[in-house]
Amino acid sequence: MPNHVLSSSWSGVWSLSVCLSMTLSVGVAAWLVGLPPSAWAAKAAPVGRGKPAQPAVPAAMAPQVPAGNPLLGRDKIDSERCQECHGADGQGAGHANGPEGKFAKLAGQDAAYVLKQMQDFRSGARKHDQMAIMARSVSDEDVRDIAAHFASLAPMRGEPVAGAAAQALAQRGQQLFAQGDAARGVPACASCHGAAGEGNAALRAPRIAGQEWRYLDKQLRDWRSGERRNSPDGAMNQALSRLSDADIDALTQHLASLPAPHPSLSTAFQEQHR
Ligand code: HEC
Ligand code: HEC
Repeated sequence: MPNHVLSSSWSGVWSLSVCLSMTLSVGVAAWLVGLPPSAWAAKAAPVGRGKPAQPAVPAAMAPQVPAGNPLLGRDKIDSERCQECHGADGQGAGHANGPEGKFAKLAGQDAAYVLKQMQDFRSGARKHDQMAIMARSVSDEDVRDIAAHFASLAPMRGEPVAGAAAQALAQRGQQLFAQGDAARGVPACASCHGAAGEGNAALRAPRIAGQEWRYLDKQLRDWRSGERRNSPDGAMNQALSRLSDADIDALTQHLASLPAPHPSLSTAFQEQHR
């Protein structure tokens, strides 16, 4: 994908959060403008390596990009304690059955999304006491490294549902996810989050396929009630305002049951989840 196309929509949609974090605006803006989201998606390879320079932009003029270092990030999730709750493999901490099983999975998550959330926790744009403390204990540089590390891991994977009732619920969720419900003004989640819930960096929509179910359930309710309101232009609050409790149960069941995507399986995967 041409860098300039992504860069323009990218810097535009990010302007809100950049305003929210004035002190960081220069560094963040430079980073966002310079960073093609596809660089994150592709195993968080150091920017500038591995891909030929775009013909229109001579290599010498390419912007300096402070990309995160996934190797440093691997150490930092230990020293900064992120892995205690998010898992060394980014698949959550494994206390999913306890009352605290609302720890987001971060494996394969878009690095720019992770950085934005950390800035939002820090500024209070997204409210969560524990994560506000964590976010204030690390610098943006640390977060870039940590985010690059999580982005490089095998993506979060859900658990298949067992039983006819649960499967029927997941099926209903899949339908709502893919098609929305025009009569009730519910948009198709897939239009922003991707057909398989893999996320869309250009739209700043995170990966949600295979996310932890208690975490998903809480986020969907928080978007609906307005408790969480840090999406660009209130997009998520609008998208979810008309959902019923049953819709949320169905969407959560569907998303939490999706297996990890695999590039070579993507066709079969999409067939299976059509
Ligand atoms: C004591 C447990 C704990 C620790 C330690 C912790 N987190 Fe979290 N984290 C949480 C919880 C709980 C949430 C869910 C917040 C919510 O419900 O909105 C969360 C959410 C997040 C999110 C948002 C995920 C999403 O999908 O939007 C990010 C990003 C994140 N944490 C990164 C980190 C990083 C980086 C560290 C280390 C510096 C860290 N966390 C340390 C508990 C923790
Ligand atoms: C107009 C685009 C758009 C549509 C439609 C949309 N989303 Fe989102 N969604 C986003 C964006 C952007 C974010 C990230 C917000 C932020 O920066 O915190 C998001 C965040 C989320 C999150 C939080 C993920 C996390 O890790 O915390 C969940 C869950 C989610 N969306 C589910 C849904 C579902 C379910 C639907 C359909 C009912 C939907 N979304 C429709 C754009 C959209």
